[in-house]
Amino acid sequence: MSYLKHDNEFGAEFDSALNELQICIQKLYSIRAIQETNENKPIRLHDSTIESSSAYSCIRAIVRNQITMGKLVDFYEKSYSDYLGGSFKSLSCNSGSSANLLAISTLMQSGRLSVGDKVIVPALSWSTTVFPLVQYGLVPVFCDANDTDYNIDTYHLKSLIKKYNPSAIMLIHTYGCPADMNQICSLCNENNMLIIEDTCESMGAEYSGRKAGTFGEVSTFSTYYSHHICTLEGGFTCFKDEELLSLAKSIRSHGWLRHLEDNDPIFSQYKELDKGFLFSNIGYNLRLSEPQAAIGIEQIKMLDSFIENRKQMAMIYSEYFQNHKDIFSFIEPLPEANSSWFGFPLVLKGRLDKQRRHFRDFLLDKKIETRPFLAGDFTIQPVMNKFQHIKDGDFSVTSAITSSGLALPCHQGLKSKDIEKILYYVDQFIKLENYST
Ligand SMILES: Cc1ncc(COP(=O)(O)O)c(C=O)c1O
Repeated sequence: MSYLKHDNEFGAEFDSALNELQICIQKLYSIRAIQETNENKPIRLHDSTIESSSAYSCIRAIVRNQITMGKLVDFYEKSYSDYLGGSFKSLSCNSGSSANLLAISTLMQSGRLSVGDKVIVPALSWSTTVFPLVQYGLVPVFCDANDTDYNIDTYHLKSLIKKYNPSAIMLIHTYGCPADMNQICSLCNENNMLIIEDTCESMGAEYSGRKAGTFGEVSTFSTYYSHHICTLEGGFTCFKDEELLSLAKSIRSHGWLRHLEDNDPIFSQYKELDKGFLFSNIGYNLRLSEPQAAIGIEQIKMLDSFIENRKQMAMIYSEYFQNHKDIFSFIEPLPEANSSWFGFPLVLKGRLDKQRRHFRDFLLDKKIETRPFLAGDFTIQPVMNKFQHIKDGDFSVTSAITSSGLALPCHQGLKSKDIEKILYYVDQFIKLENYST
């Protein structure tokens, strides 16, 4: 399978021009930073994590002909596998949604799951967590959330397992907060269920000192703009099992076998076909490009510091909302859970129960952005009419989150004074409500 290699090195003049480019990009970012110190700047839900070293690495990859599936992707994947602690191998993808599709496609094509199998999935869900299941003929069985960390309700989970005998769980670690993996893993072990961890919102989170996304068979991550790190669009599918990993490499790339060694027995079986164009699996093109991987390499270096900032912001929120538990509930991670805080979710209750619209508008008027919590109860979406599923239960927690939940900004770009400003206006809103009632 040998082809001519592209040149990546173009000599001293080229390198010196690259150096000038780097200085120019640094300058662009410092001009931006000065403008962004404006006291009245809006507080957005998310802020790009891409800074000058990421932007420079991306452009450098483009001008050096590093386009797709090369050394940068390999290095990026290895860095992320190391970040996860070494027991999982990471495959980069072009989005978190693609990562979910790749996870399910691999489990189906390997025979680990079969058409008609039931798969537990949270009702507090994301569309492309559910869609790969139904695209592959699996039957989602929706599970309610609990009202402490808004992850899956393990009591409901137990009853669904008993009643429906599911083959797997497509778990979401919700909004940065790892689910109760002690309980979930033991329930799944007892009932011979596969665990797929959709960790798209929870990169870097830990449970009992172990990274979320390393408890099941397969896990997925997103590196979309609003997430813990950003590669423009992007994601990872991570595998414990080498055979699944190898199959996923093929599915990610057209279903061909270019990742195999030249002496793999399959090539002698199909001698008449070109090794580079031998298709043995039902594939897609879900690959990440080299310039995106170049961004990712820089981003991983900063991931822990990004998460640390999120944690500090969340601490300020938590201290404040502890004193207002009569009108707000908020995500409270389990003692074993170390959240990476994708945002700061709240549910309005008591006398604020019906005030979400009013509250969000009030904050928006002060240039503070908020959003609904995840996509709310996915089981009430119109698309539900289009596929077979099981919805059994009252879903009271997911319903409350849907009608009264929202998320406040909590990200790497915020400072404590931003959170204090948000809380100042939250306080004003509470007083306004006192006044009006
Ligand atoms: C739980 C969950 N899964 C999957 C995705 C999809 O990720 P992406 O936007 O990278 O496709 C998201 C998006 O935020 C998500 O929240």
